[in-house]
Amino acid sequence: MTEQENELRTGAGSGRDGDGTAPRVRLRDRDAELRSVEAAVDRLCRDFAAGGTEIGDLLAFSGRPGIGKTTLLHEVRRIAKLREGATVLFARGGERQFKEPYHVLRQLLQPVLSDLRPDEFRQVMGTWEEVVGPAMGLKQPKAGARRLDPQGVRDGLDYVLTQLAPRRAPMVMIVDDLHWADAESLSWLTKFAVRSGELPVLLVFAFREDENDWPTETQDFRRDLVGLKGRKHELNRLNLNSVTDMIRAELGDKAEDAFCYEFWNVVNGNPFEAGRLLDQVRDQELEPVEENSRQLRELAVDATGMTLKSWLDQLGAATLRFAWACAMLGTDIRIDLATRISTQSTEGARDSIKQLRKQRVLTQSPNGNLEFVHPLIASSIYNTMPDATRLGMHGIAAVEIENAGLGLLAASRHLVETHSGEGDDRIVKKLRRAAVEHQLIGAPEAAQRCLNRALNEPPADEIKAEVLYELGCSALLTDPVATVNQLKLALDPDEGPLRPELRVDATFRLSEVLAHSGELRQAALVCQEEARQTADPAGRQRLQAASFMWHAFRKSEEDGCGRSARLAEMCGQLTGREAADRAVLAMRAWDLTLRGAPSAEALALADEVLDGGRLPKGLGWTDTTWGFELPSMLCLTYIYNDRVAQAERLAADAIIQFEIAGWSGAHRGFAYFLMGLARFRRGLLAEAEDFLRRAFRISERIGRKLPLAWDAVGVLVDTLIARGRVEEAWEFANDFGFHPPYHATAMVLPDAASLYGKLLVAKNRYAGAAAALTEAGAQLDVRGWRNTVWAPWAGHLAIAIADDEPERAREYAQTAVRDARTFGTASAIGSALRLQAQVEDGQQAVDLLEQAVTYLGQSPAGYEHAVALVDLGAALRRVGRLEDAQEYLYQGIELAQHCSAEGLVDQARRELANYGLRPNRLGLRDFGDTLDTLSGPELEVAQRAVQGLPPQRIAEELGLHIGLVNRRLAAVYRKAGSGPDGLASALGLPPQQREATRPGAEDEE
Ligand SMILES: Nc1ncnc2c1ncn2[C@@H]1O[C@H](COP(=O)(O)OP(=O)(O)O)[C@@H](O)[C@H]1O
Ligand SMILES: [Mg+2]
Repeated sequence: MTEQENELRTGAGSGRDGDGTAPRVRLRDRDAELRSVEAAVDRLCRDFAAGGTEIGDLLAFSGRPGIGKTTLLHEVRRIAKLREGATVLFARGGERQFKEPYHVLRQLLQPVLSDLRPDEFRQVMGTWEEVVGPAMGLKQPKAGARRLDPQGVRDGLDYVLTQLAPRRAPMVMIVDDLHWADAESLSWLTKFAVRSGELPVLLVFAFREDENDWPTETQDFRRDLVGLKGRKHELNRLNLNSVTDMIRAELGDKAEDAFCYEFWNVVNGNPFEAGRLLDQVRDQELEPVEENSRQLRELAVDATGMTLKSWLDQLGAATLRFAWACAMLGTDIRIDLATRISTQSTEGARDSIKQLRKQRVLTQSPNGNLEFVHPLIASSIYNTMPDATRLGMHGIAAVEIENAGLGLLAASRHLVETHSGEGDDRIVKKLRRAAVEHQLIGAPEAAQRCLNRALNEPPADEIKAEVLYELGCSALLTDPVATVNQLKLALDPDEGPLRPELRVDATFRLSEVLAHSGELRQAALVCQEEARQTADPAGRQRLQAASFMWHAFRKSEEDGCGRSARLAEMCGQLTGREAADRAVLAMRAWDLTLRGAPSAEALALADEVLDGGRLPKGLGWTDTTWGFELPSMLCLTYIYNDRVAQAERLAADAIIQFEIAGWSGAHRGFAYFLMGLARFRRGLLAEAEDFLRRAFRISERIGRKLPLAWDAVGVLVDTLIARGRVEEAWEFANDFGFHPPYHATAMVLPDAASLYGKLLVAKNRYAGAAAALTEAGAQLDVRGWRNTVWAPWAGHLAIAIADDEPERAREYAQTAVRDARTFGTASAIGSALRLQAQVEDGQQAVDLLEQAVTYLGQSPAGYEHAVALVDLGAALRRVGRLEDAQEYLYQGIELAQHCSAEGLVDQARRELANYGLRPNRLGLRDFGDTLDTLSGPELEVAQRAVQGLPPQRIAEELGLHIGLVNRRLAAVYRKAGSGPDGLASALGLPPQQREATRPGAEDEE
């Protein structure tokens, strides 16, 4: 048989044809599968043409090696490419490449992404360019880029696909040999497969289902994959007739039935094995007659059964060495590389290739590169390599790949497979550099493989601790337990010395990870301890400050007041305004806030931290010297000191920066939480709920009941109560387990016990509330924390015990008001007064609520203001001032509506209805009020509109674009509750017929 024929017969099976030009194999026994493919592609194209978007589907083919998966996928590609406008993407896993991060996704997405026009590319990438770009190998990471969080890469890919799919729809994404896909690609693909239904994308996967064919690292994904919904087909063996047909097509009709039957049995209906056996029969010139059937079994040594000796016999030493080089490279094999790795001359390589093609081991693809005829053969060849040869050749491969300019990322897969124990400094250096590069593309596991290998080399004694430190840092965003262990080792003097500045940093990182996993005391102690041994003043200050910070986040501390005093002292001694100094100021500002010290002091410090309203250099959200806790404290300080807008600017910055950096875990979750809390304080409850739910989801994705989840749940429960959904709040709190003793070690933001007590009061469970709130008060007192907004325990305790112990209730309420006045923000005083009014009656209550309304009216606390208005309305009704009552209730309703506080709206309406008042204003506002709601530019167009000027004329008179005038007019009509006709009367403006006087007016001009 000629090479040409070999090529023809094996072409489709190798799955390599970039352009779909490879010859087709006659597919047998795959009618059902092909119908399924046709139907799926049909449906995708038809639904897309009909305007559908959420029309995605999943087709999965599984089966043993050689059963025909790749051949079938080849048909899928052909069928899909025949459809006009369809985009067909293809990739496949490789047994030798599953440790190359994003190997599969890069194959799949690079071609289509790099084909986009520049403007399209920008739209498709959105804010994710610096995340998805480097991960997909489309661009180098920016100079000074930070390590990417793999979750960020996945989120980025979600965004990119959501943008890309509709632009290139209908889209067919095909992945072959998914069982060998790299973990980074798989973790995204398995999730994407779940939501592919939302996009115009048909996903087609092929894989071996047997768990032994999957690497241990990706077993979890196998389970996810097997559990996916979709059209799944397990490919069966070919039936006797088909195999008989294949035999007769090759050997002629003379092949006897009995021979064919035995043949079919021997190959068990596997088309790959059938092909191999046919080759043997032909090579051995075996007559296909019954007497010869017994020899078939001996002839059929399947590829996996081949030993080193059998390959050597078949190929010879030099050719086998070339084949080994190819097997190491995997798929899409560059001839020049294989030649150099096998240390052959060009001449020798040419002979080897010729030989390997003749022996049906390799084929050549249209792009000139080599492929194994089937991965089974590649595996067999690789697995027969003697250990020493394999390790040595991987070493050569690493060097050659780097020399070929393919970079350390590509070379490192081979580097980690090389001999260790030589103590080669250059290898250690390369592996460390490769680790850095892996982190920049969001592949911390691969980075860890490099660093672990570097440790095995081993590195020189002086740098061993440094490598351990790098190993610890590499898992910062993904694996807290590993990080803690490795950083502890790095700091352990027995492991060798660590440079002093790295010691400080390693200690800080260690404390950070401890803190994030709730070990706050440990975190604080680690810093304290190391600070004592740190000679450098800046390093010492950093560690001391960090220990203060972690203590502050603890659920309780032994010496809260002492710490606060020491922090004040430290603050007083600061001389400069470096980032480290500002960090201490921020901490003090937050400490003062929690203590309920006069708000002006905390704000003055906070303002000093900022630089023109923005975070200063070195204290940014993604700066690693201080971590995100520091800007968080600043943001919280602003939230609790009534500067919510400033806090929102900071939180919005955080969300965007974490997105751009691809830090999608706890960081982004906490940013959502801060934004949710800010919105809640402002009274924008629906938005608050949305942000808080997102924060909660992210937190639960990382782990169960992390401190962040407690924060989010607490404020979410508070938000639900404010929206009047008490039952839902109660159930949600119970499902989560939001009750004492709360988080074991970390403080919950804001005070959990106060929130819990408030929830019990809302449920009318006064006794439980009283107990929880009393205890909360006692603990906070010891710590010296008296902020009544952060922990409004006293005011709510007063309400809980008002019936049984009215005197004590009054005292608590008064204490709260006193504390609030010391703190001094309008929202704190107003809210405390409102709570106090609840334990007073008659005129007393009215007086308190009138003050509360005044204070709250000057604060950003919209919802609190609305409650006070409604309470005041009710109090006025009780003392018989019905008309005033009605006015406050109306105002309360309006504000409550603005806040999405539906429960409060109902309550106010009930109050009105029950006492014979109208539950709604007859007119929404009077004229003056409506006019007040118009902005200056809106008033300008409104005045001209009531004079009967058409929009075009208004635009000319004001020198504005007609579109802008129309938008302003729309706002005017909405606010006035009237179109052009009734506008004058709705606004109470005199309608003038300017049209009549127009000519005169124009003359004047
Ligand atoms: N349905 C089929 N009918 C005939 N030959 C087939 C069929 N499916 C696969 N083959 C042949 O069997 C060989 C192995 O198929 P392949 O698709 O590579 O298997 P897999 O991907 O499942 O390992 C190829 O040479 C191919 O030409
Ligand atoms: Mg295959």
